[in-house]
Amino acid sequence: MSRLRLGVNIDHVATIRNARGGPHPDPVRAARMAADAGADGITAHLREDRRHISDVDIERLGQDLTLPLNLEMAATDEMLDIALRHTPHAACLVPERREERTTEGGLEVHRAQNELRPFVSRLKDAGIRVSLFIAPDPQQLEAAVRIGAPVVELHTGPYCHAEGAARDEELERIVKAAAVAQDLGLECHAGHGLSFETAGPIAQIPNVAELNIGHFLVGEAIFGGLDSAIKRMRAIMARARADTGGARSA
Ligand code: PXP
Repeated sequence: MSRLRLGVNIDHVATIRNARGGPHPDPVRAARMAADAGADGITAHLREDRRHISDVDIERLGQDLTLPLNLEMAATDEMLDIALRHTPHAACLVPERREERTTEGGLEVHRAQNELRPFVSRLKDAGIRVSLFIAPDPQQLEAAVRIGAPVVELHTGPYCHAEGAARDEELERIVKAAAVAQDLGLECHAGHGLSFETAGPIAQIPNVAELNIGHFLVGEAIFGGLDSAIKRMRAIMARARADTGGARSA
C-alpha cells in the first residue's frame, strides 16, 4: 500500500488576507507552518480572477518553499505560461468558472479531450507532474488515460456534502473509481471538502496516494491553530490507513 501524502491547500489564508488588502495573514508563512506540521506538499490555486492566491504568492512559494508545490490551474494559455515559467513540482488541471464559489465539478475530460491533451503534454514535457481533477467516473478515468495524464484527483465534494445513505453511495463511487484508476495505471489522489469527519474513509482506500485539503484546515486553524489542525488531520489519516487491512478495496 502506498504511503498517503497530505497536500495542504493554502488558498483561504490568502482569502482572509485579501479581505483587507494588506499582507496579513501571509499564505507563504502558512506554507512554512504546514511543512513543519507534517504536510508533504503545498497546493495553491491561481484563479483567473486572482480572488485568493496571487502571482506574487506563486513566485514566493517557488522561492521559499522546501515542499513540492502543486499548482491548481485552469487549462488556459495564461495559466500554462505561468506554470511553464515557474515549473512547480505538480499541476492539477481544474475546471474554472468565474461565478462559482469554489471548484464545483470535475473536468469533463471525455468531452474536452482535444482541448486538454496539449496542456497535459506541454506540462509533462516541462517535467511537471500533471493531474486531472475529475468526478469518480470510469468514463473520465479512461479519457484521462487517453490524453496521457499520469495522475487523477477524484472530487470528494459530493461525498462530503451528502449525508447518511447518500454519503455511503458517494463513498462507494470513489472506492470503485480508485480501483479502476489502479487498473488503468493512474496514480490516484482525492480532495475537496474533506474534514476530520470525512477524511478517514477516503484515507482507507489503499491506492489513494494523496489527499489535498484546504478550507477545513484553515477554518479549524481559527480555533486551535494551523499546526494542531494539520497534525490532527495527519493522525486521522494515519489511523485510517493502519485500520484498513484492505477493507476499502473494491
Ligand atoms: N483539490 C482541488 C482540485 C481543489 O480545487 C480544491 C479546492 O481548491 C481542493 C482540492 C481543496 O478543497 P478544500 O479547500 O475544500 O479542502
